[in-house]
Amino acid sequence: METPTRITVNASGKYDILLRKGGLSHIGDAVAERFKPCKIAILSDDKVFPLYGKVVTESLERAGFSTVSHVIENGEQSKTLDNVTAFIGTMVQAQVTRTDMVLALGGGVVGDMAGFAAAIYLRGIPYIQVPTTLMAAVDSSVGGKTAVDISSGKNLIGAFHQPALVYLDTDTLSSLDHDVMRDGFAEVLKYGFILDKELAQVTARPGTFDLEQVIARCISIKRDVVEQDEFDKGMRGLLNLGHTFGHAIEKLSGFTITHGSAVARGMVIAAKVGAEYGLPNLTAQITEIIKAYGFDTDCPYSADELYDVILSDKKRSGADITLVLPESIGHCVLRKMPATQVLELMIKTGL
Ligand SMILES: NC(=O)c1ccc[n+]([C@@H]2O[C@H](COP(=O)([O-])OP(=O)(O)OC[C@H]3O[C@@H](n4cnc5c(N)ncnc54)[C@H](O)[C@@H]3O)[C@@H](O)[C@H]2O)c1
Repeated sequence: METPTRITVNASGKYDILLRKGGLSHIGDAVAERFKPCKIAILSDDKVFPLYGKVVTESLERAGFSTVSHVIENGEQSKTLDNVTAFIGTMVQAQVTRTDMVLALGGGVVGDMAGFAAAIYLRGIPYIQVPTTLMAAVDSSVGGKTAVDISSGKNLIGAFHQPALVYLDTDTLSSLDHDVMRDGFAEVLKYGFILDKELAQVTARPGTFDLEQVIARCISIKRDVVEQDEFDKGMRGLLNLGHTFGHAIEKLSGFTITHGSAVARGMVIAAKVGAEYGLPNLTAQITEIIKAYGFDTDCPYSADELYDVILSDKKRSGADITLVLPESIGHCVLRKMPATQVLELMIKTGL
């Protein structure tokens, strides 16, 4: 096991993010260093739990914690209030109290749900994130946004609730399906495009960099953003590069186009829209990098179709939409504009 990299987040709660390649079986020690013996309610899914559930529960129990596990079907369709209620039912039955904890073992779906359950159960108990996808490692496990989906849209019910610890063993990423891993790279590329020219250069060619270092860099960037704007009132919005268009693509496809794949397309649209808005044209550079990862960069939907969905997006304020637009590689800007202008710009890009 390598010496852990520790990144500390100073938000409304202060917590450590530990990166320990090969360290999953030592999670109990890391938790015991920080928290008194208690009951830990684990939420996981039916793909992840058979792979890593035993290692995690045994390690926690060796370190003096008792555990109770609740396993859901894997996939975004499970991110529901009903499943959170069922998980809370498991906690009630196991007599989990305010001095106990929740632990999310899995990708962003499990992480968002476990965090939300921890935010609302007994008006809030602490939780630990153990991300097992690249997406969860670099993005969803850090920053305290928790949520479930409802029929009107994704993440419409949620809460800000910072984890008490994030524990990442990058070896767990080795069992990911190729497409799930690639989806995570859309978020990795996003950080470079938005805030870090050097990261963008390092990650421009897949397979040529140290993944642990890149993950640590992405987490540090997210930490910096969260520390400055925990409650998403300003610059945290930069992290939505490609997401306004990406969410619309995801939804129009009936979620057959995955989140990462939709965000990849969305980042290309953002580059095109930025150029039409009068910013430098970065379309060719951004498209080339995204294509190098094997993403399809074509958008199968028209400007009008995307616009209808964007209008119902929760991030819209009044008649205005705030877009994240690239100004150079490594620097994006937020531009608030009337919704109709977004439609005009999209039409000009040829969508
Ligand atoms: N809270 C936030 O700030 C934030 C940020 C970005 C995304 N999200 C949310 O994250 C979710 C997407 O997360 P995701 O991409 O991790 O999806 P996911 O949790 O559905 O995981 C993707 C698939 O990979 C499987 N899997 C997970 N870890 C595995 C492993 N180590 N080996 C083999 N299979 C494994 C899962 O079972 C699932 O089938 C969305 O719901 C999105 O809204 C939240």
